[in-house]
Amino acid sequence: MKKRAIHIVATLTCILICGYKGFASTQIGLRYLRCEMLENPQGIDAVHPRLSWQIVGGGRNIVQTAYRVIVASSPEKLNSNEGDFWDSHKIASGQSIMTAYAGKTLASRTACYWKVRVWTNTGQSQWSQPAFWSIGLLNASDWKAKWIGYDGGFPWDSVSKFSRLSARYFCKEFKSDKTVKRAIVYIVGLGHYELYINGKAVGDEVLAETPTDYTQSVKYNTYDVTNAVSQGDNVIGAVLGNGRFFTMRPKYKPQKIKEFGFPKMLLQLEITYNDGSKKIITSDDSWKFTADGPIRTNNEYDGEEYEATKELTGWNAVGYNNNKWANPQLVAAPGGRLEARMMEPIKIVKTVNPVSIRPLKPGVWIMDMGQNMAGWVQMRVKGNRGDKVILRYAETLQKNQELYVANLRDAKATDIYTLKGGGEEVWHPVFIFHGFRYVEISGYPGRPNVNDFVGQVVSDDTATTGQFETSDTLINRVYKNAWWGILSNYKGMPIDCPQRNERMPWLGDRATGSLGESFVFNNENLYAKWLDDIQDAQLPDGSIPDVAPAYWHYYSDNMTWPGTYILVANMLYEQFGDKAPIEKHYASMKKWLSYMRQKYLKNGLMTKDKYGDWCVPPESPELIHAKDPSRITDGTLIATAYYYRMLYLMQRFAGILNKTADQQNFSELAKTTKDTFNKKFLNKTTSQYDNNTVTANLLPLYFGMVPPTYEKQVFSNIVNKILIAENSHISTGVIGTQWLMRGLTDYGRPDIAFHIAGNSDYPSWGYMVKQGATTIWELWNGDTANPQMNSRNHVMLLGDLITWFYQDLAGIKAGDAGFKTVIMKPANISGLDSVKASYQTPYGLIKSSWKKSQGQFEWFVTVPPNTTATVYLPAKSLKNVQDGNAALTTEKGIKYAGLDKDNAKIVIGSGDYDFRIKY
Ligand code: BGC
Repeated sequence: MKKRAIHIVATLTCILICGYKGFASTQIGLRYLRCEMLENPQGIDAVHPRLSWQIVGGGRNIVQTAYRVIVASSPEKLNSNEGDFWDSHKIASGQSIMTAYAGKTLASRTACYWKVRVWTNTGQSQWSQPAFWSIGLLNASDWKAKWIGYDGGFPWDSVSKFSRLSARYFCKEFKSDKTVKRAIVYIVGLGHYELYINGKAVGDEVLAETPTDYTQSVKYNTYDVTNAVSQGDNVIGAVLGNGRFFTMRPKYKPQKIKEFGFPKMLLQLEITYNDGSKKIITSDDSWKFTADGPIRTNNEYDGEEYEATKELTGWNAVGYNNNKWANPQLVAAPGGRLEARMMEPIKIVKTVNPVSIRPLKPGVWIMDMGQNMAGWVQMRVKGNRGDKVILRYAETLQKNQELYVANLRDAKATDIYTLKGGGEEVWHPVFIFHGFRYVEISGYPGRPNVNDFVGQVVSDDTATTGQFETSDTLINRVYKNAWWGILSNYKGMPIDCPQRNERMPWLGDRATGSLGESFVFNNENLYAKWLDDIQDAQLPDGSIPDVAPAYWHYYSDNMTWPGTYILVANMLYEQFGDKAPIEKHYASMKKWLSYMRQKYLKNGLMTKDKYGDWCVPPESPELIHAKDPSRITDGTLIATAYYYRMLYLMQRFAGILNKTADQQNFSELAKTTKDTFNKKFLNKTTSQYDNNTVTANLLPLYFGMVPPTYEKQVFSNIVNKILIAENSHISTGVIGTQWLMRGLTDYGRPDIAFHIAGNSDYPSWGYMVKQGATTIWELWNGDTANPQMNSRNHVMLLGDLITWFYQDLAGIKAGDAGFKTVIMKPANISGLDSVKASYQTPYGLIKSSWKKSQGQFEWFVTVPPNTTATVYLPAKSLKNVQDGNAALTTEKGIKYAGLDKDNAKIVIGSGDYDFRIKY
């Protein structure tokens, strides 16, 4: 008996310590609890929020069999397992992401404390760590605050094309006499705000306020400020900057540029005391206000000017004399629906130290950050009162080492700081950002030193979720440049570029790019929000613009830019398993397609296109767009192929939503479109589409439009064109490049894709690197083309490159939506010796690292709990495959799933694997 007990203890200890393969492990844990895809969000407005968690556990083949969620009104209740809001009890279900809350109705302001525990096939977890969410203000009647602002400029402002508008300072004193139990502030500050209580900044966001079309939707933010409110006297203050609300180029091209008016805000601070009583502070015309502070102008294109001599020291703390301040005006609401922000805020996400500061001419210096980035520099300076330091920003230098600003168009990209004197001063702008690598410094008292400056990278605070590295150093550098490019252009919406007088959320740039980006950054909430922006921008007739939010009025009606609406919804479903965007936007998407059909479908062809295959490598180096007809793909071909693709995706969405009649209808429309398309564009003698550009052949091939008997030949036309006519180089623009790398790989020539990815001569991504690029260019010939449209920090030419890196080089691809199942199939490419990648899926971290050496292919794979992976082993049978030192076939839980060409397929559950295959 005793002996037996010792044996059991020993076995359990071994299981616990060794995580013994294939056996039950009791170490099931939980991490990363999220509510509506956010960690511990404050002030959400989903009343049935979806809850997600990740299971961790050392063993293999872990599958959730049941869960129990408890949601309580207090941490104490949660701790004693009292789910007074919701106790799901044990539910037999494998669902571990996006489980909808199904408890008591949640009213505005409710704080919810929650935890979860799970049962799996290999044991059960303890309760998770507690997590939190709170509900915001759900009803218009919850808002007691009034919109305040000042509808006009001041003598030192200038409301003209190059607008200058100073920041506006608002404050309010209030008393808080009892012990505070909870204090929550709700705020909208348009265009940007900084919020303070008793002189201390609330939170660490920058450029706060989510950019939207404010006439359609306005996002409020919620902060818990319980610890900021003091007993006795308090001051709450906010500074308003211009952002997109007071647009960068007002009174200029009013038919194109949307204006919203002067900055304004809505603020409500709600204090609940320990005795249950409440106090509420709201924005109204009893507040104090001035615009005569240190921030003299803030314009996203032109920069920020700060006069420290005009600092209002202590303005946001108790005891400041603001007798001379005015009262703000009560102003009109911006018009849009008030909604909670449901995405990551913008923050300083990284700092970069300058690599050098070199003199240019007396008193003028050029600082090199070593990296093209978006944000600003923080400066440390000591000098006399009134000294002015001018910082001008640019992406590149001219040959004479001066800044190259021609490609900024009329953006001034200049910050000016006037010193107050008397000691060390540290400053950075707060309401603008720049896209830059170089900074020209003038007026700096003394000799500037690299230690006096630091670059602060400003971006959506979306976690980096992917890691990717290969044996090819050039490819690694391209990947790194892409990382910087994507990060630079996330600003509460995906913008095209961060430096010139544009920075617009162009739809076409992200059509497929958003998928690649989703491997690198957790961009789920950003893109879900962007779909709402697109929906808000839809015209009553169904038209969808090329830019959304529609800060620029571009309703050109084409398939490729607005089509991003549908492609991004598909991406969110595939990558994150989120069906909600499809449900929410289905009707608008359908409306857009039928609008396009009715207006532009002529004889079965979609006749309206605007951008063609935007930015193909042109025939001569200074051109932005090719003029040579042999490089240009026909607009009707592109539009009709995309129309087909959209119909295909819509029939898929209709299926997901169980709309059978629609599904049938979309399929039929797709079929007739395909037939007409082939009649018009397929030359049955040569198997070429139209003028035989790579894009012309690739779109129908990748979209499944080519009649099966022609497929092979169409593909060889693509191959010949690339290998012979283009000397193994890329010849596609924004459209063709979206499908190129996957198209080549799917049809059996990953080696050509690899060659294109590894090129370092023109045109290629590697060429950009060789020319010193640290981001991705807008044009293949960015180094020689006209500066009129030539940003060095765009992401649209990435096409499907990043997707290909992850899906085809690392072999990490979603099977079922959200990576519930994974397809692991790295392409076998000679010349590529290793890939090391990981990706944070909704279920947990998936890893794929393979290397070829001395006749062995070794592949480390990690599959997250509660998922399975179909793994394509480069072996004709399992005979010679090992997992570590053991023969593969002997292992439990590994299912053989047949031979697929040169790969033995197996299906595996969660856990770590070390596959070794002799070749
Ligand atoms: C933008 C692009 C955009 C294009 C379409 C350019 O100015 O920078 O990113 O997609 O215009 O017209």
